[in-house]
Amino acid sequence: MGLEEWERKEKKNRMKTTEQMKSFEQAYKNYIPEQVERLNENQMKWFRDAKFGMFIHWGLYSMLGKGEWVLFKERLNVKDYERLADDFSAVKFDARKWARTAKAAGMKYMVLTTRHHDGFCLFESRCSSFQAMNSAAHKDFVREYVDACREEGLKVGFYYSPLDWRFPGYFMPDLYWENALELKKQCHEQLRELMTNYGKIDLLWFDGEWLALGGMDWNETAGWFRRPDWAIGKYMKVNYFWESEKIINEIRRLQPGIMINNRFGWEGDFHVRERRIDDIRTDKPWDSNDCIADSWGYIPGRPVLSLRELIHNLVSIAVRDGNYLLNVGPAGEGDMEEEQTERLKQMGEWLACYGQTLYGTRGGPVIPGNWGGTTYTGNTVYVHILEWQKEGVTFSIPNHKLMAWGALNAANVHLEEKEGQIRIGIPVADRDPFDTIIELVFDKEIEWEGIKGTENDVYGLGDGIQNRSAN
Ligand code: GLC
Repeated sequence: MGLEEWERKEKKNRMKTTEQMKSFEQAYKNYIPEQVERLNENQMKWFRDAKFGMFIHWGLYSMLGKGEWVLFKERLNVKDYERLADDFSAVKFDARKWARTAKAAGMKYMVLTTRHHDGFCLFESRCSSFQAMNSAAHKDFVREYVDACREEGLKVGFYYSPLDWRFPGYFMPDLYWENALELKKQCHEQLRELMTNYGKIDLLWFDGEWLALGGMDWNETAGWFRRPDWAIGKYMKVNYFWESEKIINEIRRLQPGIMINNRFGWEGDFHVRERRIDDIRTDKPWDSNDCIADSWGYIPGRPVLSLRELIHNLVSIAVRDGNYLLNVGPAGEGDMEEEQTERLKQMGEWLACYGQTLYGTRGGPVIPGNWGGTTYTGNTVYVHILEWQKEGVTFSIPNHKLMAWGALNAANVHLEEKEGQIRIGIPVADRDPFDTIIELVFDKEIEWEGIKGTENDVYGLGDGIQNRSAN
């Protein structure tokens, strides 16, 4: 096929509008995705430099204290659930306090659930009555959140879930196709609202792109269960349903430079490793998101990660060239648990001392291991030793000549260079209990080829599925 013919065909295909997608099957067959450009490295530099962000899961579900999936998991009556909004007075909601907590923790950006899978908007939405202005609080929480982030000099991120459990079309689009289209329309309109009403937004974190698509089934013995074919083929490739590329292009027109993740049927500017860290990857930005207290949405009394765990997570992620997006789930009234804010403050104190070995650096050039890893900037490499091996730590940085070195937080460091290998040993008593950091200065800027990732970026649903079965 010649180029012209191909272009004609492509144009004709693009003209297939939602209205022509008469059914789920047809939508699946006819979909031709628009091209979406990924941001360039320069546009994503702030993200790579930031390393540490605060994720916030908060909504009506927070009042029930059973996590953000409570409506679905407990099969609550939707009307009853919606009435929770009448009691959502959020008397302790203080976006500035959240933002100050994030800043004090050394975080550089925030991501708030503007809307989770229950469909309740923390913002003023004109296309849904299930929204903040109709709650007892009668305020646009997202606006206050955005203002607070800006005041504290933090980058502003929105989490948005396209799916909404209140729509039968989400569960069975083949049966309720009109309703499924309503769901899509709501998603597009709300994204437009979020992208137009709050000034510059730096990051959009999608989640909840999957559709049940009949993937849920029921029988007498199992009750509701997930059909085995749920995870394959068309159930996974959700872009044809949401017309993801089309709306993403529109989002980019409204918010040029906004960073978007890989959870909306498009490969994303960055990708998400949900509650896992995995291998070093330098060819594409990524975040590893996890909870400070073992649940996204508020559940009281869950164990809080120790300072050591937080430091180890952040450092392990940074040496692998990712960002740590750490979730806090405030209670229904809007307050964060004190033990959590206290822990975050300790984290900030640690970062105030050692942050320069992480912020603005890149992961590598040494391949990380259980012992720890390295970050670098210019001609400096920071060695982070998290877990000591008996024989100390040995690595090489080829083609670079070590000029000087020093430990940031340990005495009696023995550093040896032999046949291109650098070996570091420190007596047990002199090691830092959290992270022993050694600075190495080389004769020239660090250059290395980096490590390419192999994850499937396009649908990002590998994460979702593991995670949903855990839910
Ligand atoms: C999952 C869950 C969701 C949570 C998210 C955070 O996809 O469905 O509840 O918001 O992970 O990454």
